[in-house]
Amino acid sequence: MILAGFLCLLFLTDAVNCQDNCSYQDVLNYLNLTMNNELFIMTRPVKNYKQPTYVSLEVLLYAILDVVEKEQKFIPYVWTVTRWHNDFISWDPNQFCGIDNVSVPTEILWKPDLTIEEMTEKDKAPPSPYLTISDKGDVEVQNDQVLVSTCRMHTYNFPFDIQSCNLSFKSVIHTAKDLRLQPSDNSSEATEWSREVMRTQYEWLFINMTVTANNASDPLGQDIVVYTITMKRRSVLYIANFLLPVLFFLCLDLASFLISDRGGEKLSFKVTVLLAVTVLQLILNEILPSSSNKIPLIAVYCIGIFALMMLSLFETIFVMYLMEKDSESESTETAGDQSLSESCDKQGKANFYSCHRELQKWIQSACVCDVSADETPSELLPVAEEDNSTKLREEYHALEKLSDELKAMEKTLALLLNSRKEEEKPGYWTRLAKRLNKVFFIFYVTIVSLFLVFIFLKWNIA
Ligand SMILES: *[C@@H]1O[C@H](CO)[C@@H](O)[C@H](O)[C@H]1NC(C)=O
Ligand SMILES: *[C@@H]1O[C@H](CO)[C@@H](O)[C@H](O)[C@H]1NC(C)=O
Ligand SMILES: *[C@@H]1O[C@H](CO)[C@@H](O)[C@H](O)[C@H]1NC(C)=O
Ligand SMILES: *[C@@H]1O[C@H](CO)[C@@H](O)[C@H](O)[C@H]1NC(C)=O
Ligand SMILES: *[C@@H]1O[C@H](CO)[C@@H](O)[C@H](O)[C@H]1NC(C)=O
Ligand SMILES: *[C@@H]1O[C@H](CO)[C@@H](O)[C@H](O)[C@H]1NC(C)=O
Ligand SMILES: *[C@@H]1O[C@H](CO)[C@@H](O)[C@H](O)[C@H]1NC(C)=O
Repeated sequence: MILAGFLCLLFLTDAVNCQDNCSYQDVLNYLNLTMNNELFIMTRPVKNYKQPTYVSLEVLLYAILDVVEKEQKFIPYVWTVTRWHNDFISWDPNQFCGIDNVSVPTEILWKPDLTIEEMTEKDKAPPSPYLTISDKGDVEVQNDQVLVSTCRMHTYNFPFDIQSCNLSFKSVIHTAKDLRLQPSDNSSEATEWSREVMRTQYEWLFINMTVTANNASDPLGQDIVVYTITMKRRSVLYIANFLLPVLFFLCLDLASFLISDRGGEKLSFKVTVLLAVTVLQLILNEILPSSSNKIPLIAVYCIGIFALMMLSLFETIFVMYLMEKDSESESTETAGDQSLSESCDKQGKANFYSCHRELQKWIQSACVCDVSADETPSELLPVAEEDNSTKLREEYHALEKLSDELKAMEKTLALLLNSRKEEEKPGYWTRLAKRLNKVFFIFYVTIVSLFLVFIFLKWNIA
């Protein structure tokens, strides 16, 4: 270096040469690295074909963009760094102003043909256009991509599930004889770095990333590096939007035991609540994949509550049937007796009314008599007439009193009749139905609590 500077100073006229070696292009010219130099593009860059190319891999998880349980699809956004050695690249940085690395377009160099086994869709975004070469012949490619990958989801514990998705990196055609694939980071590093750069996690909480290197056992096998991304679902929203509403409907169903069995209100209320649960079940159907062998716990929860509510609906129907039976039997049993007494009642009432009315008529006619008596010529029977009129008046007053008394009697009679109807004792079936209701309620509450405890324990353990 010092010598070169000295030479430069000595031959100032040739100073252009000194400056030239400071540009990146000088390095490329020195390497003869041009756009279509076959040496760099066509073949694996080793001087001896028996020597494999060591490719090291580093993967960082930038974001969890989407997880579709229904389609078993996992879409992460990852950052991959791939490094390997190129035997044909090397220069002395001292000759080139200390340049120790150069960025060049990716197309002018050979690249390992890495692929991800789980990937189902090619990333639409173009790959990074540059790679970096170093003075020692190391080549590094950094790339970020949205991976659309398949991932077997285990939805048994939904929405308290933990999912693990694999990203298996391997070469498409090269065997372990040609290409050795190694991860350059270990699990704890990958987890820590991913946590640092993580941008968005969708509804998931990133737990860790495990790196597994599966070395090929024989030269014809392939090295596979598996990155397992473990994540936990944030279940709060599902609890609020799904588990609690179903539970509330169950509470409503429990509350419906307070509604009277008479009339259809209880029945229609229960049916409505049951339908509401069905709607929630339909929503669930859209989320969960149909491919899981085990019925997910949430489906058990839903179906269990549905079944319990249906049971209570059946009980209501049965109780209503019993009560109906009771009123039927009552009407047939006491048909003759009751009809007689009723008709008697009615007759009595009718008689009473007619009596009353006749009485009133009579009173009126008396009045008329009174008036007509007043109108008759007074000269004929003045004394008798007066006598008659006073008599009539007295009679009239007496009758009026009687009428009032009769009215009062009518009232008390009506009251008596009503009270007799209310005090009617409940029939055998009604009493049975009421007892059944009580027993069933206790049974129902017990079963519901047992069921809920069972489900939540199962959720907690698994
Ligand atoms: C550079 O490549 C050209 C042809 O592409 C060749 O003639 C030349 O000898 C090469 N130089 C070196 C130093 O490899
Ligand atoms: C510049 O590079 C040429 C070869 O490409 C070399 O002969 C010359 O010594 C270099 N100049 C300096 C100052 O390093
Ligand atoms: C590339 O060179 C620059 C300076 O020229 C240096 O800062 C950087 O660390 C180098 N990168 C690598 C990967 O060596
Ligand atoms: C993920 O990879 C690990 C390690 O190779 C393996 O044990 C596990 O079965 C894989 N999981 C899936 C879902 O493929
Ligand atoms: C991972 O690598 C770091 C440094 O390279 C080291 O300190 C750490 O112990 C390693 N962890 C494991 C689990 O190998
Ligand atoms: C990652 O998390 C899972 C689940 O919590 C655990 O089983 C596994 O051991 C963890 N792996 C590492 C490397 O910490
Ligand atoms: C795989 O091979 C590399 C060296 O090529 C070695 O460092 C690593 O421990 C091996 N891994 C296993 C699991 O055998």
